[in-house]
Amino acid sequence: MSGNITFTMIKPDAVKAGHIGDIRARINYAGFKIIAMKYTKLSAEKAGEFYAVHKERPFYGELVDFMSSGPIVAAVLEKDNAVADFRKLIGATNPAEAAEGTIRALYAKSIGENAVHGADSDENAKIEASFHFAGTDMHK
Ligand code: RTP
Ligand code: MG
Repeated sequence: MSGNITFTMIKPDAVKAGHIGDIRARINYAGFKIIAMKYTKLSAEKAGEFYAVHKERPFYGELVDFMSSGPIVAAVLEKDNAVADFRKLIGATNPAEAAEGTIRALYAKSIGENAVHGADSDENAKIEASFHFAGTDMHK
């Protein structure tokens, strides 16, 4: 079955806390197919480029420091309605506001260190997937 794609990262806080396996399992149980995945680390420069849309926000410096503070897992996921369904699975940006059972409610520590990233549109999912993976690294 083919569908839309979304892009995700398991952020440094969740990797450090040992949640890679649990989060990966929840992603699979929710019906997403992994079409690319890697364990990697962002330089501050790369993290800044990835979140450039937030450059003017007061939390940008903190966000760049955090996202380059340790290893992450980057992945491209496929499912019907992937972007919206994945945002639903991870919950609100602030874990205090995230619905019960969502990945952020379960694993995030704070609004800044919130365990996972999820692309916010089909267009950004494609841009973010190509930021991390060559076409030849994605396998449906
Ligand atoms: P993401 O892009 O990582 O999936 O998160 P999001 O869409 O839910 O939230 P967004 O507004 O795009 O913010 C990106 C990331 O910046 C950090 N942040 N910190 N301290 C703060 O007030 C604050 N606000 C946002 C979070 O790590 C957030 O996920
Ligand atoms: Mg976002």
